Formats: sequence, C-alpha cells, structure tokens
Amino acid sequence: MKLLAGFACFYTALIFFLSFNLSVSGMEDLGDIVAAIQEAQQLRDLEEGRSQDALDELEEEESPWCTHCPEWLAFLVSFCSDCTDVGSLLPSSSYLASEITACIPRWDQDHTYPDGRFILEVGPGTGVFTEKIIRDKMGPHDRLVLVEFKKKFYHILLRKFGDDNRITIHHCSILTFQSNLQVPNHSYHYIISGLPFNNFSSQDVANILFLYKNLLIAGGSLAYFEYLILPIIKKFGLEIAACFFDSARRKYEDYCLTLDHLQVFRNYFSYVDNSATVYRNFPWARVITCYQRNGLE
Ligand SMILES: C[S@@+](CC[C@H](N)C(=O)[O-])C[C@H]1O[C@@H](n2cnc3c(N)ncnc32)[C@H](O)[C@@H]1O
Repeated sequence: MKLLAGFACFYTALIFFLSFNLSVSGMEDLGDIVAAIQEAQQLRDLEEGRSQDALDELEEEESPWCTHCPEWLAFLVSFCSDCTDVGSLLPSSSYLASEITACIPRWDQDHTYPDGRFILEVGPGTGVFTEKIIRDKMGPHDRLVLVEFKKKFYHILLRKFGDDNRITIHHCSILTFQSNLQVPNHSYHYIISGLPFNNFSSQDVANILFLYKNLLIAGGSLAYFEYLILPIIKKFGLEIAACFFDSARRKYEDYCLTLDHLQVFRNYFSYVDNSATVYRNFPWARVITCYQRNGLE
C-alpha cells in the first residue's frame, strides 16, 4: 500500500515537473538553452574557419555514441536537450505499440491490398512501434517508410532496421518530407504518427495534419496518440502564466488553437475511434485512429 502511494506521489510530482517544463515556456525551456549554446558553439566554429560541411561531418561522427547505449538512456538524453520535439522522457511501452498499430491488419489477413501495403511511420524515435509493425504486421510485399527528425534516433534506427530492404529510413522533418522527396499524394495505406502534437505550434500541427490527410489513400487509416492529463495541466499552467507574461499569453492562445485543430481534424474522417486508453505507458496515453473516407481529396 505504502509502495503504491509512493509511486502515485512520484508520478504526480513528475507530471507536474514535466508539464511545468513544457508549459511555462514564457521563460526559456531547457531545449532553448541547449539549442542556443549549440548555436553559439557553431557560430564560433564557423568564425574559426570551419565550413558547415565539416561541422555536419563532425556531428555525423559524434552521433553514433548513442547507438551503443541503452535506448531509454538515448531517449532521456534527447529529451533533456530538446524536450519540445522529443516530447517524452522515455520510449513508449509495448502496450501502446500494440494499440497504435492495431489499425494495421496482419499482412496475411489483409485481403484488400494483395500487392502489399505502404506504411508510413512518423517520429519512430528508438523504434518501439517499428518493431511491432515489422514483427506482427508486415509481409514480404509491404513497404515501411520511417521519418525521424533527430539524428541520434536516426542512427539507432539505421543500426536496428537498416538491413531490411522493405524499410526506408529518412532523416528529416515530416514538414519537409513530401516536398523534398516529391512524394505524391495518396501514397500510404497506413500512417502511424508518434509526434508530440501538444508541443508543436498550431501552424505546424495544421500543416502536419493536412499533410497526413493528403498522404493517405482513400480507405486508409491514421493512428496517433496523445498523453492523458498533461494537456489539461499544460493548458492550466499556460493560463496562469498568461496572467503575468505577454509571451505566455501568446503561447496560451496558440495552444488553444492547437487543441482546436486536433478536434476539427477528426471531422475530415468518416470514422474516428478514440476509445483505446493505455495505462501501461508512461505517461498514460490515448490512441486516436482515424479512418479515411473513400474518395476524400
Ligand atoms: C514522443 S517521441 C515518440 C517516439 C516513439 N514513437 C515512441 O513512442 O517511443 C516523438 C518522436 O518524434 C520525433 N519528431 C519530432 N518532431 C518531428 C518532425 N517534425 N518530423 C519527424 N520526427 C519528429 C522526435 O525526434 C521523437 O523521436
């Protein structure tokens, strides 16, 4: 009993700490500070005469340290340096992986696409959902495309899945993926999104959701997750901070828009299932699966 109470206190304290970290960013957050330090370092390097290419190469060489450390540690370190984009302290659990990939039938039970399916996973991180897709869903004719923004995670994904010729791994933001690689609309049967939408600006959220809608084929489905409780705490924290700081008020207004976009987006689909709640994940999460209307442009 004492252990349970202790765990509950720890969990609540951690959630408060995280949401404070994520929300009261009228003041700069840890990610901004680290980014500023890195930028200053790069500027100094450039002034000292190193070209951008040389710096990129250097980063390329330095990144693989994390490919050999435990994945949870790579995740934690990434979260500390950029909590906005990484969005979580730890990788998702296998329970969340099962729920979010539930919209993809096993290849040998999916008679709709006998020539194989195209699956897009956005923000795979260390590949928890990817492993599930490969192990339980994919057949020999299916193709999986991974789009990961963080170089550390990209290297981990390369090491884990680089040998599988059904899988393509891109190191870029989903915001530039379609235009840079000239991916046609309606290219994917299934999209699994691991992005922390609650941390993004309303403009980015709108752009990404619009992109997902365009990339899905008619009859395809999209699954993403949102954390429970954190959005409420974040909204509340920002609302309080907005009373004192102008920048926080702007963030609060933008965050309300982000939440609106996520709600309105669901109207574009013929059927939305948000009944799957996963408590065996840190933080608790809900999976939202959207099934595309046939013939939707
Ligand atoms: C909450 S983590 C989820 C990681 C993994 N799917 C999991 O559940 O353990 C979010 C992931 O999205 C990636 N990410 C954030 N912004 C992105 C973007 N614009 N394009 C592609 N990936 C992005 C982060 O680097 C991180 O790996």
